[in-house]
Amino acid sequence: MQDFLVIDTDIGIDDAFALRYAMLTHNLVGVTTVNGNVTAGMAAKNAKLFADHYNLNAVIAKGANRPLAAPASDPITDVHGADGLGGCYDNPFDAQTPDNAVNYLINLVKAHPHEVTIAAIGPLTNIALCLNLCPEFASLIKQLVIMGGAFGYKGHTGNMSNFAEFNIWSDPEAADQVMLSAIPTVIVPLDVTYEVLISGAEVASTQDQFLIDISKFYLEFTEREEGFYGMAVHDALTIEYLLHPECFEVIDKPVRVSTDGITAGQTLIPQSAMPIPDDNFKDLPVKRICIGVDTAAVKAHLLNALKVTA
Ligand code: BDR
Ligand code: CA
Repeated sequence: MQDFLVIDTDIGIDDAFALRYAMLTHNLVGVTTVNGNVTAGMAAKNAKLFADHYNLNAVIAKGANRPLAAPASDPITDVHGADGLGGCYDNPFDAQTPDNAVNYLINLVKAHPHEVTIAAIGPLTNIALCLNLCPEFASLIKQLVIMGGAFGYKGHTGNMSNFAEFNIWSDPEAADQVMLSAIPTVIVPLDVTYEVLISGAEVASTQDQFLIDISKFYLEFTEREEGFYGMAVHDALTIEYLLHPECFEVIDKPVRVSTDGITAGQTLIPQSAMPIPDDNFKDLPVKRICIGVDTAAVKAHLLNALKVTA
């Protein structure tokens, strides 16, 4: 039996690419939602729309609708559209999805110890809640792969502030708790996701009309902002890591998250090469951080997998 994959997501446009890539390549058993690009309720509606379109048979469960320590931020309408999917489809599904994402995740890892991988491609609120409610969660989960953070490699520092990436910025307290936990974790940050840009023509080459339709809004946003008709498919790189870890250069370091001030949401790793009296990272668990990527190989894997064949 193949291991179980759950995607914890705030379904926006690149999240949909990750979901599609995952359902084509993994045993995707669950989609849990969290407030981020859109509300957790809207993300659940989008998960239902996606599942209906692609005949995905997975549990859909709604999760946290606000960060651990702050009110919910506004949806990211300029990148993903008001509905998170570029505003191109009517969504007839209701938002009355069971509000049990955290219980679902806890029960799943308890039922299948060391067999559940979670790809967290939105803010980390649900994962932090799992850790808080279930002390053994960290030792039961097989692996957590996070899209989030920015470490400054190749000049990639932040997309919400000078220091912070959106998913981590959206709930820095939750992210810091996850980094402090013992969950075996791989981080797929902007340092690698901004190195894998898919052009409009490449999206079209998949011949997947759903992905083509929802991408239009994001492609137009990037063209306006950056003069390039293309997009970073950030979240899909978590699935790529699971399939092809050899395509990534990694470092293993303890990670903390700034929760305050102008650096709020910044992902931090040890900087000093000297013995220091106040080592904030002493004895912390190590996380695997992707800092380099084989762009051509990743694009080839992704586009080949997404291409409609029938
Ligand atoms: C992350 O932010 C969201 O807008 C994307 O879906 C991705 O998860 C990139 O910073
Ligand atoms: Ca996302």
